[in-house]
Amino acid sequence: MARRRRVYEGKAKILYEGPEPGTLIQYFKDDATAFNNAKHAIVTGKGVLNNRISEFLMTRLGEIGIPTHFIKRLNMREQLVREVEIIPLEVVVRNYAAGSLAKRFGLEEGSLLPRSIVEYYYKSDELGDPLVTEEHVTAFGWATYQELDEILNLALRINDFLSGLFTGVGLKLIDFKVEFGRLWDENDEMRIVLADELSPDNMRLWDIETNERYDKDRFRFGLGDLKQGYAEIARRLGILPEAGPADVRGTGTLQ
Ligand code: TMP
Ligand code: ASP
Repeated sequence: MARRRRVYEGKAKILYEGPEPGTLIQYFKDDATAFNNAKHAIVTGKGVLNNRISEFLMTRLGEIGIPTHFIKRLNMREQLVREVEIIPLEVVVRNYAAGSLAKRFGLEEGSLLPRSIVEYYYKSDELGDPLVTEEHVTAFGWATYQELDEILNLALRINDFLSGLFTGVGLKLIDFKVEFGRLWDENDEMRIVLADELSPDNMRLWDIETNERYDKDRFRFGLGDLKQGYAEIARRLGILPEAGPADVRGTGTLQ
């Protein structure tokens, strides 16, 4: 295979130049990190599961009219996506108190919030992704008021749809993080689209009956085997890799 140019490497993914201008290949690594890289491990097979879960969720969202960067999955670890200009915000939507929100306001983990809450964090590993307000976002020019309005609207639609989808398979969507990007069409019209990934690395999913956690909190707080949790989510969604659990073991790229 010809060597591809690496455009960007993050904690859990690598972006390579795509086959056509305006496309990128998104490669899912097996690295698990928490607390801004303070905790790190290789969880063999995590990348395969996240690639598959993200493909599934992005496709379902595309079907209900949410614009996304996703084009198609290429293989076990890679997907083809549109190159977008990432808006440097982590947009978090919360339905139940957990994680940093529970800590900040002294709320019991798992308590239902009075309504869904959307928060913005400035994407900066050096600063530890600080919580920011609309004032910071617009004053520093990370996004305009109009873009923020669109982002809020999309984030709430994504939340409504995913909450229903997961309820259908016995899971509670506690909270999740998404990222958005700007995409220009052939007429130079700009659209905000869902980018990055949608996987259990970026969302909290609890069993509706038992409150068992299947997401990255297993790794963050040593609550159980991470891969087993992610595989359970994939199983409930009906998308365990085609050839069964053996598919999840390899670290290489299957072409
Ligand atoms: P938090 O409660 O730690 O602020 O996390 C809220 C949600 O955002 C949770 O579903 C995990 C996700 N998240 C990320 O995807 N990346 C991050 O860097 C952090 C801190 C949280
Ligand atoms: N995403 C961050 C990290 O990888 C923090 C977290 O998810 O807890 O370190």
